[in-house]
Amino acid sequence: MKILAVESSCDETAVAVVEDGRHVLSDAIASQVDIHALYGGVVPEIASRKHVEVIAALAEQALREAGCTRKDIDAVAVTYAPGLIGAVLVGLSFAKSLAFALGVPLIPVHHVRGHIAANYLAFPELEPPFLALAISGGNTLIVDVRDYTDMEILGATRDDAAGECFDKAARVLGLPYPGGKPMDELAQGSSGGVYHLPQAHVDGAELDMSFSGLKTAVVNLAHHAQQVGEPLDRAALARDFAQAVSDALVPRVMEAARRSGRKVIAAAGGVAANSLIRRDLEQACAQAGCRLYLPPLRLCGDNGAMIGAQGYYEYQAGHTAGMDLNAYATRDIGE
Ligand code: KG4
Repeated sequence: MKILAVESSCDETAVAVVEDGRHVLSDAIASQVDIHALYGGVVPEIASRKHVEVIAALAEQALREAGCTRKDIDAVAVTYAPGLIGAVLVGLSFAKSLAFALGVPLIPVHHVRGHIAANYLAFPELEPPFLALAISGGNTLIVDVRDYTDMEILGATRDDAAGECFDKAARVLGLPYPGGKPMDELAQGSSGGVYHLPQAHVDGAELDMSFSGLKTAVVNLAHHAQQVGEPLDRAALARDFAQAVSDALVPRVMEAARRSGRKVIAAAGGVAANSLIRRDLEQACAQAGCRLYLPPLRLCGDNGAMIGAQGYYEYQAGHTAGMDLNAYATRDIGE
């Protein structure tokens, strides 16, 4: 079954053709990062307009690169939530029109389910059940993936997402948007241990996380150093910050594994590209006897192929939508 998949929830327009949920025939992406970098973050209105400009040509490119024509497409999958509402609407409207014109089913895909499904593309042997640590610019979740379309949130951030926190910290360190990758690179120049950064705990919900205090602490540290003219060890701060984020994530996902009895963990989302978090996950999983799946870096960030992968399993479960499908800025992964 060939699915044409559309993703436009943030600042990447992406269209892919995926066969049977596991084989990527094409994966076309148009990134808007350079434009948003001028503003230090994603400007939603600009994101929507850029999606409109490129999406039709990108779909043609995806078909061409897959060696397909429109007639070969059996269904259209699309991110319908969560994301920047105007941005999601562009991809959704395009996908609806295409499914209608081709007379094929329309499959709604939750963006974070897509991130998790990126693992199916990289690891043919991976099947549910497993635990997923989904860490991206907009979401930070520990998810029990009971089956391909049956998921339960075990832990979540109460405020900022881990990626958002990386991006804000990077900004005060003078790094370009999106800041996760440059922060990661800067951190590699230090062994850290210089700055004491806070760790948050949510009473009665030990698997939940909070990153806003950590973000504020880095902002305050940087501003204070600037005001009193103290030199800032930027590499050490980047390293200590990454360690603080990892210390918030890794022990919690391991605790979730202990509580749920799951022995397989898969990472997902842009922040799963972080070298320190990957290293800490590897060490913790080795120690706990868990099998760890870390998707290759190109599948961590937003892409269309992951929507095609999840779309296949949504279709198998009978999850298709009519032309009244709406876009949602927020939506529980379990819905
Ligand atoms: O998954 P993604 O591409 O988009 C969303 O669905 O949100 O994630 C983007 C986020 C950004 O916040 C970016 O700074 C972060 O992933 N990121 C990283 C790294 N690479 C990307 N964060 C930490 N370390 C990295 N190496």
